[in-house]
Amino acid sequence: MARVALVTGGSRGIGAAISKKLQADGFQVAATYAGNDEAAAAFTAETGIKTYKWNVASYEESAAGIAQVTTDLGAIEVVVANAGITKDAPFHKMTPEMWNQVIDTNLTGVFNTVHPIWPSMRENKFGRVIVISSINGQKGQFAQVNYAATKAGDLGIVKSLAQEGARAGITANAVCPGYIATEMVMAVPEKVRDSIISQIPAGRLGEPDEIARCVAFLASDDSGFINGSTISANGAQYFV
Ligand code: CAA
Repeated sequence: MARVALVTGGSRGIGAAISKKLQADGFQVAATYAGNDEAAAAFTAETGIKTYKWNVASYEESAAGIAQVTTDLGAIEVVVANAGITKDAPFHKMTPEMWNQVIDTNLTGVFNTVHPIWPSMRENKFGRVIVISSINGQKGQFAQVNYAATKAGDLGIVKSLAQEGARAGITANAVCPGYIATEMVMAVPEKVRDSIISQIPAGRLGEPDEIARCVAFLASDDSGFINGSTISANGAQYFV
């Protein structure tokens, strides 16, 4: 039986590449999205991957959505917590709303996504938790106090979950993408983006597929001893 994988924010950007790669690797994939119905419908038409709409910032919506996916496809064995947003501003201009929205989606959203799935992973003695962090959680970033805090928090989550899940056959790992050619990075003003690219030794942005392959590696049955680790894919921009 194909294992069931859930990818949050899985119909666009890096998440879409992850959904497609896991499908290609033989997983039964469910992808969530927050609001863009059109993009989700186009994604399903293109790939056949079923999409589910819920807000990862809500525990109730997440738990109900996960229950629905479980009814439709079976117990979720691989979860990729990928959904995330940016609300960038220099700290003196960052409002409490900008802080809270990013924390609620990127950090609490990981809790809301993994927590309802954790009991069945423990029961089935198998699980793969993969959290999409960021280079900016590792190094910090001008105008991203909120985002960097969540992405650094992701690393604490996986290191803790790894210790709790290890005996139950569950691994938890993070992937830290560098700057990848997605809408999120394209939203950065062009001048700023050019200056970012000039700081990447590879001389280019990464491709979503280059992150998806890291996720697929961690999702594999053969990756059971890789637990609590972080894979960085950033074109040599930053080393931990
Ligand atoms: N380092 C140092 N100084 C910087 C800077 C940086 N990286 N970026 C901007 N500044 C400076 C500017 O030069 C400017 O200085 P001056 O006033 O002396 O000219 C000042 O900061 C900007 O001040 P403003 O008040 O004009 O800034 P603003 O309110 O208009 O905000 C901004 C602009 C939001 C910071 C915009 O520049 C921006 O979006 N920067 C990019 C931030 C970024 O890298 N985000 C990552 C998005 S991609 C992502 O998050 C995915 C991932 O995981 C990698």
